[in-house]
Amino acid sequence: MINQGKKYLKKQTTNLIMAEEPDQEKSVDTEFTAKSNMDIFECLATRRSIRKFTSSDIPMEMLGTILDAGRFAPSSGNIQNWRFVIVKNRETIAKIAEASMQQLWINQAPVVVVVCAETEKISQFYGVRGERLYLIQNCAAAIENMLLAAHAVGLASCWVGAFDENALRRILNIPEDIRPQAILPIGFPDEIVPSPMHYTLEAVCFFERYGSKIANLERVLQNPDVFGKIQGAVKTTIEAGKDIAEKAKGKIIKR
Ligand SMILES: Cc1cc2nc3c(=O)[nH]c(=O)nc-3n(C[C@H](O)[C@H](O)[C@H](O)COP(=O)(O)O)c2cc1C
Repeated sequence: MINQGKKYLKKQTTNLIMAEEPDQEKSVDTEFTAKSNMDIFECLATRRSIRKFTSSDIPMEMLGTILDAGRFAPSSGNIQNWRFVIVKNRETIAKIAEASMQQLWINQAPVVVVVCAETEKISQFYGVRGERLYLIQNCAAAIENMLLAAHAVGLASCWVGAFDENALRRILNIPEDIRPQAILPIGFPDEIVPSPMHYTLEAVCFFERYGSKIANLERVLQNPDVFGKIQGAVKTTIEAGKDIAEKAKGKIIKR
């Protein structure tokens, strides 16, 4: 799956519209090829936040594949404002765990990737919207890609967002204009975590306009005609209501 993506990317490289021409660093393509037999939908459904890791180190090929997955994420104007700090030093990881509101389980991870956001270019190109929204969304897309890739190759991770930003800056020498976004401890899983509760589609989907819910979503999705009929029925009921209200107007007896 990942290899196919790589071939596609190579084919598309000449068509990339970038906020800036790629510099030398960006145009060097790595060849990390850790394999996965997992179907993408299985990967999406079975990924879990894992907070317990075995003591085994992770092969560099796997780490490279995960980082590649991060850099293949979509970004506003293809600006790619993510930066990844790879940490293997035990003392540094211990300090990161401490700075993460003492989430000491992070110490078990053989590798920690800290995802940071480069801010300058994004505010230059997209102003306040870029700074407040795209900056975070771009990095979030890269983070999710990495979590999925880790799971796909048999590793595990957890998106850690609770940390002292300034403490992290000091530990990793992160400059003022770079914002740390997430900490990803990565390792081989040493726990099986059940799937948490997920809202039903009915609870989170609206049809055609915000707030318009449908009880039997499965039936509607399988047969869009049903949705048309429901819509028609709703409209008719509203129109009928309006009609009655209009007629009733003349019948109101003023006392
Ligand atoms: C923005 C964000 C911040 C998070 N921060 C933490 C964190 O600091 N510590 C932690 O243990 N989990 C953290 N998580 C993981 C969530 O607790 C987890 O994704 C959620 O409970 C759903 O479980 P799942 O990932 O297994 O589906 C964070 C997740 C997100 C998206």
